[in-house]
Amino acid sequence: MQKITISDLGKFVGQEVTLQGWLFNKRSSGKIKFIILRDGTGYLQCVYFKGNVSEEVFETIERIGQESSIAVTGKVKEELRAPGGHELDATNLEVIHETHDYPITPKEHGIEFLLDHRHLWLRSSKQVAIMKIRHRVVKAIRDFFDNKGFTLMDPPILTPNAVEGTSTLFETQYFDLGSAYLTQSGQLYAEAGALALGKVYTFGPTFRAEKSKTRRHLTEFWMVEPEVAFNDLNDNMDLAEEFLEYIVQTILVEKAEELKVLERDTTKLQNVKRPFPRVHYDEAVEILHKNGINFEWGNDLGGTDETLVSEQFDRPVMVHHYPAVVKAFYMKRDPNDEKYALAVDVLAPEGYGEIIGGSQREDNLDFLLERIKEHNLPQSAFEWYLDLRRYGSVPHSGFGLGLERTVSWICGLDHLREAIPFPRMIYRNTP
Ligand code: 4AD
Ligand code: MG
Repeated sequence: MQKITISDLGKFVGQEVTLQGWLFNKRSSGKIKFIILRDGTGYLQCVYFKGNVSEEVFETIERIGQESSIAVTGKVKEELRAPGGHELDATNLEVIHETHDYPITPKEHGIEFLLDHRHLWLRSSKQVAIMKIRHRVVKAIRDFFDNKGFTLMDPPILTPNAVEGTSTLFETQYFDLGSAYLTQSGQLYAEAGALALGKVYTFGPTFRAEKSKTRRHLTEFWMVEPEVAFNDLNDNMDLAEEFLEYIVQTILVEKAEELKVLERDTTKLQNVKRPFPRVHYDEAVEILHKNGINFEWGNDLGGTDETLVSEQFDRPVMVHHYPAVVKAFYMKRDPNDEKYALAVDVLAPEGYGEIIGGSQREDNLDFLLERIKEHNLPQSAFEWYLDLRRYGSVPHSGFGLGLERTVSWICGLDHLREAIPFPRMIYRNTP
């Protein structure tokens, strides 16, 4: 039997085909039964006329429950009002596995119930749409860097040192070698890569033992991190805005159907075009003050601060030159004013907050040694990293984009937990 999927049906109009999938929904109207078949590639209305099929098929349809796995046979018709543009004039139905009492029904369920049943919830049409968008975002990310001559370089997951501060490390025992930590970021390894290959990116899971219960935090999330030799902070911002524009504009074109399923209002996404506004940290503080926020210079921007700043603009905004004290040890200080780090955060519109964090890196050995001491980091664990400043050091920059925050924003989700197949959060590590 030729394997045909719902997405292929355009090639089979007028022909009799058999498709395998799951019973998504059914309804009756006198002598007709309608079922919706789903197969992961789409949805297909199959119409069973009492006169056209056996009594047994009619009874089977009556009996089987939602999510029974089935094979349907019939003639493909063009039907422009139907979701995928086709309908099946059905002649047969075979049951592969009969199911009753599927836990997730079209009625509303609480979020904890849905998360407990995440392995089944993934079959729902919105979750399918999110997973397809996530997949397309991943492809857009890879296409963007691959087409620009970057080399993908996979960093280790088990690492001996902290990148983003020691407070959020997942620790594990590594044989006789003491503690190892799940990586918080591939950046330090990307820097080694940039000095070997010029332009690299890492892309993989990263881990933070974040105690935050916000809708913006996972303990396991995916991050893509480009790193480029000879790029300064401005080059880094140029790259970040071109990258984000590419991702969003690609999804708007390629995943319009899925965005419709999610009922996403895309007008604000259409605006994601270069150039993005570039706002100095001091200007961001001014914006907060003008809006009556009692914000102290020198603090990091919190979630609500980020939202307020980004609300002033119609597209993502790049906030740069944060105070060095709130940023990571590896960031280069502004040579004109040591108070500031050559850092940039990109804030997404519509309250989604920081989706990119990056900087120019400290490339001077002595300054970097000072930073490592100030941050109470063990120098011995960083000797290899310091070598990058001992041998052919160059200015270099990079950033990290959080995949789930990006998907969550593009899909217009309330919480990051739906942007990843099986979310890991402070209070959840199942299923
Ligand atoms: O700003 P962060 O911590 O930067 C770094 O890790 C740098 N080493 C990146 C670099 O320069 N190569 O994290 C980068 C991005 C954030 O902007 C956010 O999108 C995402 O990673 N992120 C999280 N996403 C989900 N859950 C969390 N707990 C996250 N923490 C950071
Ligand atoms: Mg950050």
